[in-house]
Amino acid sequence: MMKPAVGRTGVPAAGAPGARVSGAGVSGAGTVRVWDPLVRAFHWTLAVAFFGAWVLGDNGGSVHQALGYTVLGLVAVRTVWGVVGSRNARFTSFVPSPLRLVAYVKDLAAFREKRYLGHNPAGAVMIIALLIALTGTGVTGWLLTTDAFWGSEALGDVHGALANGTLALVGLHVAGVLYSSVRHRENLVRAMFTGRKRLH
Ligand code: HEM
Ligand code: HEM
Repeated sequence: MMKPAVGRTGVPAAGAPGARVSGAGVSGAGTVRVWDPLVRAFHWTLAVAFFGAWVLGDNGGSVHQALGYTVLGLVAVRTVWGVVGSRNARFTSFVPSPLRLVAYVKDLAAFREKRYLGHNPAGAVMIIALLIALTGTGVTGWLLTTDAFWGSEALGDVHGALANGTLALVGLHVAGVLYSSVRHRENLVRAMFTGRKRLH
């Protein structure tokens, strides 16, 4: 029986029938474009705005608020881009079904997980968790500035807990990125700057 044209990457290799790698340009060096400029700009601006807002959290001052609104704006743009954006940016291309997630986690535990050109299923779930946690943190922060919740200690505590919970998720996110980079011998952090990954 003929093997399907799906490589170790878990997505059809570029050039194979059905290949739909975004940007599709396979360069001479055998790399392929996976993250479009919006995803890359979104990611690093988000990281800076989030850490900035977290560090300046204590007094909730105007710079803190501006950074927090920046985070909310970025998440909104990324959510729209997740519907209309380039192939690897679209939620439908990376959010896994529960079955696919469980299968991937089993493979992870057995050290036989596939390499993905886009987000792997575990990374994808973390991305959704981050987007939700960031929204919760930003919205509770905004509520603290409204007449209804101005000075509310309880909501201030919720906001702080959400911010710290998000920070914990970021820690896991970065650990996952580093683990995957080592396992598949590729620098995923660099790929989030250049937008390119090797094809195989
Ligand atoms: C210095 C710290 C960070 C590093 C090194 C890092 C690295 C990365 C990398 C390599 C990816 C792509 C993963 C893949 O190949 O599948 C990624 C994706 C992502 N990261 Fe980070 N990250 C950092 C901080 C953050 C922070 C602080 C946040 C949010 C608060 C965040 C949210 C995300 C999101 C939402 C994605 C998905 C990107 C997209 O599809 O638009 N990251 N990160
Ligand atoms: C989404 C990114 C945000 C992060 C990571 C973040 C993080 C934090 C942190 C860590 C604190 C300290 C909490 C504590 O001391 O227990 C804080 C407090 C505060 N934040 Fe944010 N925040 C964000 C967004 C916002 C936004 C959008 C606003 C308002 C427009 C805001 C308004 C405030 C206020 C008023 C406080 C002081 C609360 C108090 O003292 O009870 N934050 N934030």
